Amino acid sequence: MSLEIRPAEGKLGVLLPGLGAVATTFIAGVEAIRKGRTEPLGSLTQTGTVRLGKRTENRSPKIRDFVPLAALDDVVFGAWDPIPDDAYEAARKAGVLQPEDLDPIRNELEAVKPWPAVFDRRFVKKLEGTHVKQGATLMEKAEALRADIRTFREERGCDRLVMVWCASTETFLQAGPAHQSLEAFEKGLRENDPTIAPSMIYAYAAILEGVPFANGAPNLSADIPALVELAKERNVPVSGKDFKTGQTLMKTILAPGFKARLLGVNGWFSTNILGNRDGEVLDDPESFKTKEESKLSVLHTILQPHLYPELYGSLYHKVRINYYPPRGDNKESWDNIDIFGWMGYPMSIKINFLCRDSILAAPIVLDLALFMDLANRAGMRGIQEWLSFYYKSPVHAPGLYPEHDLFIQLMKLKNTLRWMRGEELITHLGIEYYD
Ligand SMILES: NC(=O)c1ccc[n+]([C@@H]2O[C@H](COP(=O)([O-])OP(=O)(O)OC[C@H]3O[C@@H](n4cnc5c(N)ncnc54)[C@H](O)[C@@H]3O)[C@@H](O)[C@H]2O)c1
Repeated sequence: MSLEIRPAEGKLGVLLPGLGAVATTFIAGVEAIRKGRTEPLGSLTQTGTVRLGKRTENRSPKIRDFVPLAALDDVVFGAWDPIPDDAYEAARKAGVLQPEDLDPIRNELEAVKPWPAVFDRRFVKKLEGTHVKQGATLMEKAEALRADIRTFREERGCDRLVMVWCASTETFLQAGPAHQSLEAFEKGLRENDPTIAPSMIYAYAAILEGVPFANGAPNLSADIPALVELAKERNVPVSGKDFKTGQTLMKTILAPGFKARLLGVNGWFSTNILGNRDGEVLDDPESFKTKEESKLSVLHTILQPHLYPELYGSLYHKVRINYYPPRGDNKESWDNIDIFGWMGYPMSIKINFLCRDSILAAPIVLDLALFMDLANRAGMRGIQEWLSFYYKSPVHAPGLYPEHDLFIQLMKLKNTLRWMRGEELITHLGIEYYD
């Protein structure tokens, strides 16, 4: 039995709260691919394959030929930002892509002009936003976002929409009383509850408009009971949080390897320098705390010290982010990993990753937009845990622990695609080859 999936006909509007480094690198890449100037490198939906059936069958279609995904030519972009720069200007300022890559697509980028944002400086202390929505209540601001969404859908002739949060990381917040039920949340919107962050208002507006919401930053956004409830009620998929790039990507590649070979780890020190606007925002201790929580959770969940106390029971994990303007978007990270093996003999591993954050994040935005749209057309609602592959802090059902191991996440994602199409799930048992 395969799922009934509506075809990907017509235009797909990708709505981006936040038109900064990641969002503009994503848009520029899609435009450049459409013009045949580059290949969709790093994108599973465009370049990845999925094995079907037995190894002897030699069936490994491209993912985009196996499940019905929106075509890149059908994608159109909309964005909000408290800074009024269009996507060309914003991309030039972000400094990720070279002018020779931006100039051939200048017209397309200039056409993406952000709408005024729902912005509150209490949640992003380091930014001064001038291009913002006014309104007496948070509910009025939510209504204004909904109006933007409807106008965009109509004016651009979109068949479907998705929203991917690419805006700054908000200050640390734990779910409180206003987040526990839809009723409490809507009351909070009407009464300007100070614990309702802008990202939650975008998620709320998206879900009410039937638009899937993916969260690329570590702030809660849709990861609160009120919005999960609303997403289920409205049959809308949601996923998050925090794009898995850079140092954390490396952690979720290496840590499963250490655990597989039962190598102990007693120390993992990670430090970074970065100089983009994201780095500046994270220079505020409260925004950093949101990020830190997201980065720290990964190792413990993968290494499971409660199951392997002799290997990981004394793990000391420290993460530092240092804002260092000369580096711009070209982050550099250092990891010192103290491991031990047979008879407790110590070893250490040093990693120096000279990475480009937005180059790693852009294909994730593309894949999430296309997969969230697929999930929506397949009638999948609420939390989409199968998209954990893309996130540092995967949202999961209450009572479950999140799956952080990149390889298990990939298997889960591909098995979900097989399940959608009624193909046999792959267990890697393979005993039948030796009968
Ligand atoms: N680059 C990566 O590898 C990576 C990885 C994981 C998560 N992230 C997250 O993705 C987000 C974007 O990263 P970036 O490097 O593009 O940052 P950026 O600072 O270049 O862009 C963020 C943009 O969001 C805007 N913004 C802030 N508050 C807003 C609001 N309420 N509504 C609309 N726009 C708002 C800012 O003005 C800015 O233009 C950050 O939260 C970052 O932590 C990035």
